Amino acid sequence: MAAVVVIIAGYAGAGAFLPSGDSFPEQSGPAQKNNSVSAQGDPNSQMNPPLSHADSIERMAIGEKYYSNICSVCHGDEGKGDGPVAKFLKIKPRDFTRAQFKFRSTASGQLPLDEDLYGSITGGMPGTGMPPFAQMDPKIVRDLIMYVKSLSPRFSDPTEYPLDTVKIGTPVPYTTESVRRGRAVYVKAKCWTCHGMQGKGDGPAVDNQFDDKGNKLYTPDLTNAWSKKVGFTPELVYKIFSTGLNGTTMPSYRDGLTENERWDLANYVIALSERRKPYDGLDIPQDSQ
Ligand code: HEC
Ligand code: HEC
Repeated sequence: MAAVVVIIAGYAGAGAFLPSGDSFPEQSGPAQKNNSVSAQGDPNSQMNPPLSHADSIERMAIGEKYYSNICSVCHGDEGKGDGPVAKFLKIKPRDFTRAQFKFRSTASGQLPLDEDLYGSITGGMPGTGMPPFAQMDPKIVRDLIMYVKSLSPRFSDPTEYPLDTVKIGTPVPYTTESVRRGRAVYVKAKCWTCHGMQGKGDGPAVDNQFDDKGNKLYTPDLTNAWSKKVGFTPELVYKIFSTGLNGTTMPSYRDGLTENERWDLANYVIALSERRKPYDGLDIPQDSQ
């Protein structure tokens, strides 16, 4: 196991040695052209115009090179999530051939935006083997995204588009009242069946949950900030239960809960993990149903 830790630490640091880049993240693939994006504006619109054919062949080759040097050790040569390190990891690396991504801005079951993949690659997924490639040249991250997308036929299937992005709406301010309302939503929406009445990840339904590949799922303890992969701000938390985490049992509540209810719920989840006074979610009776 020690050897694996060294390998992971080595790869996590690898970004620091990559050539440093100048540019703002660029468009990485023709597939994104078809996105229809709602209220919040198009996150891809800040990107440069699509690449010429010759450029995109070159960029894909760069992506492939970095992929096989850095990512394939976990994600596998063909992207099936079966690299040599995978067997040592409790949470298995993503199988890119299925294109089921957890952290997205898009509706349940849909493909992610490039921006979503960009966030997962540069931010990593704390508490799992997925390291943050925060130092990597943004251009190379874009090349990697292009290559990762080429590993699944779904990204070039026109029936997958347009993508429907989840509306962020207007955040509800973080107040005691909002956290209290969020607690009521948590109970009403039955989040506790998996996450437990106190958010500790010990609800009656946690046993025997598996992802789409049959790997065991671990229901996070929402009171422990360390067990969070990306849910560090109300907006990120809001997105998690508005989109659902593809390939897992964590559902989307976009249709079941109003926007305001989802914001109150996000504030409650933050209160649970941060234990910030006076909005400490734990001050609110945790056994009320
Ligand atoms: C040391 C192992 C390891 C390495 C190296 C690694 N990953 Fe991962 N990666 C993982 C694991 C494990 C997960 C799954 C985490 C989870 O499901 O919670 C993951 C998940 C992902 C995801 C899915 C995010 C989502 O929303 O579902 C993407 C994208 C990704 N990795 C890209 C990359 C890229 C690109 C590289 C190379 C630059 C890379 N990874 C290198 C282990 C690794
Ligand atoms: C059927 C079981 C189930 C239900 C019901 C459920 N969750 Fe989850 N939830 C999960 C699992 C499993 C994960 C972890 C998925 C993964 O990353 O592998 C998760 C992940 C999360 C995360 C992400 C934490 C992180 O890693 O950053 C948040 C936040 C969350 N759930 C909140 C909620 C809320 C709020 C509700 C109710 C609206 C809810 N969940 C309902 C099973 C469930």
